Formats: sequence, structure tokens, C-alpha cells
Amino acid sequence: MRQSSLVVVANRLPLDDSAAPDGACEWRRSPGGLASALHAILQQTPATWVGWNGGIDSAPTLPDIGTLRLRPVALSEVELRGYYEGFANSTLWPLYHDAVEQPVFDRGWWETYRAVNRRFAEAAAEVAEPGAAIWVQDYHLQLVPQLLRELRPDVLIGFFLHVPFPPPELFMQLPRRVELLRGMLGADLVGFQRPQAAHNVAQLATKLLGAPTISDDEIVVDGRIVRTGAFPVSIDVAEMQALATRPDVVNHAKQLRHSLGQPRRVLLSVDRLDYTKGIEHRLTAYSELLRDGRVKVRDTVVVQVAVPSRERVESYRGLRDRIEGEVGRINGEYGRVGEPAIHYLNQPFDRADLAALYQTADVMVVTPLRDGMNLVAKEYVAAREDGTGALVLSEFAGAAAELEDAFLVNPHDVDGLKDMLLRALDAQPADLAARMGAMRSHLRSHDILAWARAYLSALDHTGRLTEWLPIPAIPRQRPAAVTPPLR
Ligand code: ADP
Ligand code: G6P
Repeated sequence: MRQSSLVVVANRLPLDDSAAPDGACEWRRSPGGLASALHAILQQTPATWVGWNGGIDSAPTLPDIGTLRLRPVALSEVELRGYYEGFANSTLWPLYHDAVEQPVFDRGWWETYRAVNRRFAEAAAEVAEPGAAIWVQDYHLQLVPQLLRELRPDVLIGFFLHVPFPPPELFMQLPRRVELLRGMLGADLVGFQRPQAAHNVAQLATKLLGAPTISDDEIVVDGRIVRTGAFPVSIDVAEMQALATRPDVVNHAKQLRHSLGQPRRVLLSVDRLDYTKGIEHRLTAYSELLRDGRVKVRDTVVVQVAVPSRERVESYRGLRDRIEGEVGRINGEYGRVGEPAIHYLNQPFDRADLAALYQTADVMVVTPLRDGMNLVAKEYVAAREDGTGALVLSEFAGAAAELEDAFLVNPHDVDGLKDMLLRALDAQPADLAARMGAMRSHLRSHDILAWARAYLSALDHTGRLTEWLPIPAIPRQRPAAVTPPLR
């Protein structure tokens, strides 16, 4: 296996193998924000991406994507259950998202989580050239930084957590809290979406490891300084803008509006089918607006795209059943023949189709109960080239710290959510244009390249990790080691 100077390790590869309708193997872009973000930048660099390809017991040889090499890691059925569905997605995921769903503490899962983390660490160590940088991603692989430090003391180790890091009171519930914290702090630089996360980790390091902190951003672990900081992830703004203005996409958006019955207003939501996304609260708000006659089906159309996710995990199956039942109830009660109240779509879409959907939406409703960032909110803003459209955004999405000109809302407060939806629906064009203009201008200088540049130049001050990144169009205002500023 050829070696690389930059190795990315994430649970998922950017491609998933899924069976095509004829049973043949078909490669598709992986779901979720992490794959979207990294896929956008890494095609331009001779890095290696180590990850799982979505299958069971298979690690096929995969073609390069541009200059990016893919190194698959095989997972067995037992490992998928204990590591991915179990410890990662039934223990850590709910706990890290404010325990909006009860975390499950199953003692049997831990050993599998540890063994799989070791396999990923060994695979990364194998493809890293001497002195390379290894950039580990997300909660699935929280032990990998420490394991790598033991295997390859010569490499620089970065870790980035795409999801929120919980407050200390919640993290303290984890039976394996010391190992998990120590594992992550095996990195040289630990990146988060929000500054609060770094603060939480500094507090926990002192409490659980007795590690002194120099500041919130510097912790001394075993005599070594571990740096932490906030690096809010973003999207390929240029790609989304280009897509949204492509003539076929603009035409497609017009056709979509036509197919929806040329309503006066279209509300859109696009989520993975996940209990953190607040889909049920949103449906309650919409149903009550219909019940109270504050919106009318013919006039206002709702489109909910909800792509199935983690379908073998019990809490996700239950959520899907509840949501589909509620959509059926609302359509049964308020829809008319040929005019459903909610257009509910379960399918994955390609980027151009998503851009057309964003073009069609007068109001984009992004109301997670908790979200590390939420890239859909940023994609919508990037797609609104003409400055029209309203974004209703949860205060509990990381994106709210940057997109302050959205219609910010507490999604737990259903009455407040209903009022905010109406405010966004009835807003004056000048107000919308001012809000959208401010958000677009922020995104232009805080795109995915700015994120990669900020993180990688903080990981290695020499600049060798960022040589392949295009020169920024807008000069940086702050020193390289500092994250793109949050306003
Ligand atoms: P999460 O990472 O929790 O899934 P994000 O909003 O940060 O949430 O990222 C979701 C990513 O997945 C976005 O890039 C979005 O465009 C993409 N996505 C969401 N729904 C679909 C879908 N139905 N088809 C294709 N891509 C989707
Ligand atoms: C979130 C996580 C990612 C994950 C994605 C999709 O964005 O932070 O690590 O890849 O959701 O979830 P999945 O379980 O399908 O990989």
C-alpha cells in the first residue's frame, strides 16, 4: 500500500456500496454532514481516507476519487452491532446530543468499540508516511488518537468532533468516561464545532485525569500540551452556488413548483431521519397551524425530505414509524384529493436535485433539538443566489452561532415555533433580502476550504498541510491558528 503525508480516518468512506435495483453493486455518495464536508475538499489532495464502505465483511479495492486514495476497513456483523449501532449510535450519539433520546449503556459493546478503534488505528498507521499527519474524525473513533500515539509516535495527530461535546454532567454518566477522554486527548489538536465544547473538555480533563489546563485551549496530559479549539465546519459554497444557478436546475425548480400545484408558499425540510432533528415537533407545529386555520393547504405546501438512517437501531425504527404515522394522520385530516398537506419523501437525492429543492423553498425549516452544525442550513443559504427566501433555524444547531440573521427559534417551544413559521412566511421582501445578504456574505468567507485551512494550519504551523488548498479569495483577517471567527 502506498503511503501518504495526510491520512484522514473516519468511520465512513465518502462512497457507500449499495445494491442497485438489478442487484449489482452501485457506488453512492455517503449520507451525512461529515462525508459531505470532507468529500468536498479531499478530492484535490493526494491524501488517503481510511474508513468503512458500508458493507458487511467486505473491504473491496476501491478506485481513487481524483487524487484521493480510499483504504477500506472491513466490519463484521457482530462488530457493526457492538461498535456502530451499539456504542457509537446508541450510547455516544444520544448522550452527546443532550440525551434527547435515552442513551443505552450495554457493557458488551465496549470491547467491540475498542477493538474496532484499534483496527482503524492500525490501518491508518500502515498508510501514513514517516512524519505524516493523521486526522481522525468523530465520535466513532474517539480512542484512535491515543492508540495512534502508541503505534506511531512520529506522526502529528488531529481529532475533530463533528457532533456536540456534552456538558460535564452528561459526560460523567458514561461508564468508560476516563478511557474516552484520554483517547481523544491522545491528539495534538482536538477540534470542535463550538468553543463551549473545548471548555467542557478542559473541565473534565482536570476532574477525571487531574490534567492541569493552561487555558481552555491548552491542557497538559502526561507532560504533553494538547491544544483544543473551535473550528465550525462548513460547505462547498461555490459548488452549491454554481449548481443553483445552472439552467437545468433552475428549470427543475420551476417544474417542482408546478408539480406542487403552484402554491403561494413552499416550506421545506431536509433531514436524515434522526430523533435529534426535531421532525416530530415540527409536524406538531404544522398540524396545529392547519387545525387553527392559520395556514391553508392549498396556499402553503410542506415538503419534508427524510432520508432513512441507521435503520437497524431500535430508536430509529420507532421514530420512522411515528413520523410516518403522523404524516399519514395530517394528510388524512387536512389533505384533499391531489393536494396532500405534506409531501413526504424518503429518498436520497443527488446534489443538483437538492439544489433545485432549495430553490423551490420560500421558507427552509431547520429545527434540530441539538445538532453539531447542520450543513443543510448552510446549503440553503448558499443556494439562494437571488437573496430571496427565509431560513427558520434552531438555536440548538451549531449553525445558529454563525447564521444569526436566520429566524432563530427554540424548537421545544411549539407555540414559539408556530409563531416563528408564520413570521417567516409573512416577512417583507426587504427584510428577507437583508437577512439573506448578511448570511451569504458570512458563508462566502467561511466555506469548507476556510475550515480545512484553519484546522490544518493550526495542526501544523509550517503550512505544509495546506499547500494543496486553493488560495482564499478573501484575505484572512486573523492569524492562521485561529478558527474562522464566530460573530
Ligand atoms: P447530519 O450530518 O446530521 O446528517 P447535516 O445537515 O450536517 O446533518 O448534513 C447532512 C448532509 O446530507 C447535507 O450535506 C445534505 O445535503 C445531505 N442530505 C440530506 N438529506 C439528503 C438526501 N435525501 N439525499 C442526499 N443528501 C442528503
Ligand atoms: C453525522 C455524523 C457523521 C455520520 C453522519 C451520517 O453527520 O457526525 O459521522 O457519518 O451523521 O450517519 P451514518 O451513521 O449514516 O454514518
